[in-house]
Amino acid sequence: MNRKTETKILKDSFGRVVNNLRISVTDRCNFRCRYCMPEEGMVWLDKSELLSYEEIASLVHIFAGLGVNKIRLTGGEPLMRKDLYLLVEKIARNARIQDLALTTNGFFLADQALNLYKAGLRRVNISLDSLDAAKFKLMTRRDYYNKVWEGIEAVETLGIRPIKLNVVLIRGINDDEIPKFAQLARLKSYVIRFIEFMPIGSDDGWTIEKVVPSNEVIKTMEGHIGKKLVPIEYHGAQPADRYRFEDGVGEIGFISSVSEPFCDHCNRVRITSDGKLRTCLFSLAETDLKSLLRGGASDDEITARIVDAVWKKEEGHLINRPGFVRPERTMSQIGG
Ligand code: GTP
Ligand code: 5AD
Ligand code: SF4
Repeated sequence: MNRKTETKILKDSFGRVVNNLRISVTDRCNFRCRYCMPEEGMVWLDKSELLSYEEIASLVHIFAGLGVNKIRLTGGEPLMRKDLYLLVEKIARNARIQDLALTTNGFFLADQALNLYKAGLRRVNISLDSLDAAKFKLMTRRDYYNKVWEGIEAVETLGIRPIKLNVVLIRGINDDEIPKFAQLARLKSYVIRFIEFMPIGSDDGWTIEKVVPSNEVIKTMEGHIGKKLVPIEYHGAQPADRYRFEDGVGEIGFISSVSEPFCDHCNRVRITSDGKLRTCLFSLAETDLKSLLRGGASDDEITARIVDAVWKKEEGHLINRPGFVRPERTMSQIGG
């Protein structure tokens, strides 16, 4: 028997076990974050091209049978998809899924948090690139700062924890806010995560000079606050290196995808909203699960295709090295 099919665990040829599936439910978004998509000219998928909630739930069932126990719903903006709580309900019913989370821009949370919570959602990561309304607008090209805070407060009131706030830093735009974010993580129980700007899609204006490496962020923070960051010990694969200030209530994380990629312990794969399996954010090839589902393939056939694709998972990305090729899709079309 071939090594890759002998066990019901998803493994790649580098020995990494995949237990984390990120599912994009739509490519649409009501923001236009400058690191993610162009201001004008996005062409959205037709609704018929999106996986239905039933199709997504079938895939979750198949992946859960292969050892996947963490699901994250992403977009575009996942809450633009009608009644997302209905999908949450379906996934939360699957006893093998131990962690069900959402990555969102926060705009619709004030309206939808209660339904999502009742449906079984217990974890939310929210993008928040600035603590200043005008700069927030510069980053997202939308004047929605206050609305996002209403959303953050709504999940806080419901007791959803942890609340992770994702900050993509772009040098010259929001890197002057590092100390303000550090103060926020000292005073409040949020997990603030600084994410290095990555080159994805053709129109994100990425250059290596615009990336603010995590070691620089740490130095800036410690200099301003006058205290050392203390590393937090944890087990298991996570993209963020975690810290807190000795006197801090919250936590600070660094996702150093450019300066220190987490590829060698990557445990994740993705499904795009149009049903393509991507084994890396930077994959140049995809496996079309939607055609299999709609063509009447059996669960066993779909399982075999997934096992095969995951076995061929890329070793890692080559950002800022010779041979790097950008994926054509924008982050919003892949799933953030
Ligand atoms: P948890 O740690 O489970 O909360 O999830 P997460 O941190 O993976 O979730 P989130 O959606 O908040 O991801 C944060 C950011 O990490 C994303 O927005 C990306 O910028 C980056 N990221 C997520 N997945 C990948 C990946 O597979 N490769 C790389 N290079 N970056 C990723
Ligand atoms: N670099 C890093 N992170 C990105 N995201 C989107 N585009 C990029 C990029 N070019 C992430 C942001 C956002 C999530 C949806 O996707 O963290 O919070
Ligand atoms: Fe929308 Fe998220 Fe992309 Fe911003 S990062 S434009 S919120 S999909």
